[in-house]
Amino acid sequence: MGIVTLRGVHKSFGGGSVRTHVLKGVDLELPVGSLVMLKGRSGSGKTTLMNIIGGLDTPSEGEVNVAGHRLHLLGDKPRTKLRQTEIGFIFQSYALHPLLSAKENVELSLRMAGVPSAKWAERIDHCLEQVGMAQRALHRPFELSGGEQQRVAIAKAIAPSPKLLLADEPTAELDTKMSKRILMLFRQLREEGMAICMTTHDQTMLEVADDVYEMADGRLGS
Ligand SMILES: Nc1ncnc2c1ncn2[C@@H]1O[C@H](COP(=O)(O)OP(=O)(O)OP(=O)(O)O)[C@@H](O)[C@H]1O
Ligand SMILES: [Mg+2]
Repeated sequence: MGIVTLRGVHKSFGGGSVRTHVLKGVDLELPVGSLVMLKGRSGSGKTTLMNIIGGLDTPSEGEVNVAGHRLHLLGDKPRTKLRQTEIGFIFQSYALHPLLSAKENVELSLRMAGVPSAKWAERIDHCLEQVGMAQRALHRPFELSGGEQQRVAIAKAIAPSPKLLLADEPTAELDTKMSKRILMLFRQLREEGMAICMTTHDQTMLEVADDVYEMADGRLGS
């Protein structure tokens, strides 16, 4: 079994006349140490799927297995715990804490993941360095550009060395050079055994994926 296995996942939002059936039976197997990319039109359900894999949302129907846990059967608390310790999530909207500096944002995710505090400083420096943000460690999100915030969000997600990294358009705000650097970083993390699932519209990114799936009509196809 892979680090992620989805079987017959459905997701609907709302009810009555505003009910939208976004996912209509999604199956996916993500092997350990693989780099898988999802593409698909805006509104096709990529973020919805990532949220379900990451335990931020629950499926209306179907099975979600992540790192040996049956996520769809877990309550809120164990699901949150699993998310904090095993899964790194790079949000399309960054989701940085507005009052905390770049450094403190990364520290927060290490704290939530239960990483011993003695290791924080080195991990924070290393991860900010890897995304080219070491010089901005003390800046808060409102003092950073969109691309800089995105890079802090990447550092924050990878800092606890999760088994699974979910990256929702992680390079949308970055220039070509920086996108390449992030892609190199992802490939290095994959070599270290991390499984990565990311959404992207960028053709050059798609070329280096182990697998590319397209979300269309509520299903994943190759
Ligand atoms: N909480 C919600 N309540 C109601 N509808 C929702 C909710 N979240 C998502 N949707 C709907 O589900 C559909 C898929 O949205 P989603 O964000 O997953 O698309 P996406 O593929 O990530 O798009 P993009 O490429 O623009 O990020 C959209 O039509 C959206 O309106
Ligand atoms: Mg999206």
